[in-house]
Amino acid sequence: MRNYKPYLGKVFFLFLVVLLNSFSTKAQKKEDSLMHAQKMEWFKEAKLGIFIHWGIYAVNGISESWSFFNNYISHEDYLKQTRGFTAKNYKPEDWARLIKNSGAKYAVITTKHHDGFALWKTKYGNLNAVRSSPAKRDLLEPFVKALRNENIKVGAYYSLPDWSYPDYTEFTRTKKRYQIQEDPKRWQRFLDYSYGQMKELRDQFNPDLWWFDGDWEHNAEEWGIDSIKTLLTQKNPAVIFNSRLRGKGDYATPEIGLPVYRPKDLYWELCMTSNDSWGFQQNDTNYKTPQQVIDIFVDCISKGGNLLLDIGPKADGTIPEEQYDLLTQLGKWTKKHGEAIYNVEAGIPYQHFYGPTALSKDQTILYLYVRDIPKDGKIALKGIHNKINRAYVVGNGVTLNHHVLSKPYWSAYPGLIYLDLPKTSIDEYYTVIAVLLDGKIRLYKEQQGAIESN
Ligand code: GLC
Repeated sequence: MRNYKPYLGKVFFLFLVVLLNSFSTKAQKKEDSLMHAQKMEWFKEAKLGIFIHWGIYAVNGISESWSFFNNYISHEDYLKQTRGFTAKNYKPEDWARLIKNSGAKYAVITTKHHDGFALWKTKYGNLNAVRSSPAKRDLLEPFVKALRNENIKVGAYYSLPDWSYPDYTEFTRTKKRYQIQEDPKRWQRFLDYSYGQMKELRDQFNPDLWWFDGDWEHNAEEWGIDSIKTLLTQKNPAVIFNSRLRGKGDYATPEIGLPVYRPKDLYWELCMTSNDSWGFQQNDTNYKTPQQVIDIFVDCISKGGNLLLDIGPKADGTIPEEQYDLLTQLGKWTKKHGEAIYNVEAGIPYQHFYGPTALSKDQTILYLYVRDIPKDGKIALKGIHNKINRAYVVGNGVTLNHHVLSKPYWSAYPGLIYLDLPKTSIDEYYTVIAVLLDGKIRLYKEQQGAIESN
């Protein structure tokens, strides 16, 4: 019989190595997710960001980049808009103040859209505000400075595709310049140009967040997504990436479609236009009302996400009045309700309250966002085990009476809690009620069974 003993020792040793290894990868994973949570903290708490689409498309008031890509206008005529891009009434400090007053904690600006027109002084390519428009100056630099002065985080939107650049593959929907496989050197020239621009943005503006767009035109390998991320984290390891990097980002970016169900992603941000266009279009007057914007915003908060609300300044740098008013109205509401906006988490399921809700981080305060006041002035909470210590109106402290109905002494069912809304101190948009619980929220999850005792 063969002697297996010497092998047993080896097998045991190997087993130990594998075990230790799996412990250390687990520990590493834990550490990574902890670090990730740390870097995402400001984003998670920010709740509101302002998106800015500013480019030559504002001159004619046509759709950004897509108007020539889709052949509604020739590329040549599209580029003629550069001549009207004056920025002559551009006041970056006013923009930053408006953003600050809206209650937003970050702003994301189109440094370059798919059309390739860059807002900053880049030494890569000729299509930019300094060299090819009457603005003749770096338009990004003073805005970033103004944002920093207002303590607003800086996000750089950067389009991966550049449909105007001669070494880029796509030109319009019907014209493709070449295939990468046919001419990899040409593609490399494009990448050098594009990475060069990103490096400039990184070094000059050190963005807190990169908002990429257009990743659908090439795969992760072709774009070199990993190299891009390495390049951009070199200066700022805590920089945040949206996921339009073939999914290799930090948070999900639903566009226009307000999630109906709470997304599974821990971090997400809905980008939304204030009318139906990203950039300025004088013919688009289909603006959302402040009530509707706040509806959307509250919905995002209650589902654990952020809202990135878009504005499209005019070619001279003024912000359209409707957009200015929207942000101002939004600001009135956010200023009063800060307690229930920043530092809160997603709320509880609608089964417990017919409306959007949020929870304080320690989950001992439940915030109810009340849009319309019921006829009898009462709102009901269902299936909450906690006792209510106090309930008050956020922003003015008026306290509310409450009483519990249908709480049988023999059952674990917690009853219906009715809160009496005050007759006065009702907000124009949403009245927010803070419900202080006797501890961490405990939701009642019943198994509807037969009654056992009565
Ligand atoms: C889209 C469009 C673009 C717009 C962006 C904003 O992907 O390509 O025009 O800037 O969404 O989210």
